[in-house]
Amino acid sequence: MSKIIQHSPDFLTLGNEESLNEEDFRLVNAAKAACDLSYAPYSGFNVGSALLLDDGQIVKGANQENAAYPSGLCAERVALFSSSVTLPGLRIIKIATLAKRNNAPGYLSATPCGSCRQVLLEYETKQKHPIEVLMLIQNDKWIKSLKASALLPFSFNASNL
Ligand code: THU
Repeated sequence: MSKIIQHSPDFLTLGNEESLNEEDFRLVNAAKAACDLSYAPYSGFNVGSALLLDDGQIVKGANQENAAYPSGLCAERVALFSSSVTLPGLRIIKIATLAKRNNAPGYLSATPCGSCRQVLLEYETKQKHPIEVLMLIQNDKWIKSLKASALLPFSFNASNL
């Protein structure tokens, strides 16, 4: 049964996967599929991310690692940059991310790192419309931030320049 808890104006606890609405469930399944596109020979931590665009299209991203470690990129930014270049002008409605460890069953939490939050905030500001961020946390519990900006208080942004 769906039991959505609103903890603050910006965050909802959605519960486990079965309690997600149809749109969120579809996006989470795309993020799961994206885990298989991960190239993570160094960490063995396969992260998958999926964006829902305003025309219903889904764009996937997966982390891409490199022997020169800092040259790699997180799943979220792969999805965001890919969408910006291949489907410009479409609004990003929401993003879902999760991870899988090599040869281990089940899915794991992978909440966006600071750099990915910064990039999410940039696109949210650019499109003048909130981006919902779906995050898997412990105990198979999904949390939804209703806007990317809530994940980065006191951010550095264009107004600082
Ligand atoms: N990673 C992501 O792709 N997204 C996250 O939200 C957290 C971390 C990747 C980066 C690196 O390839 C691996 O996970 C281990 O940090």
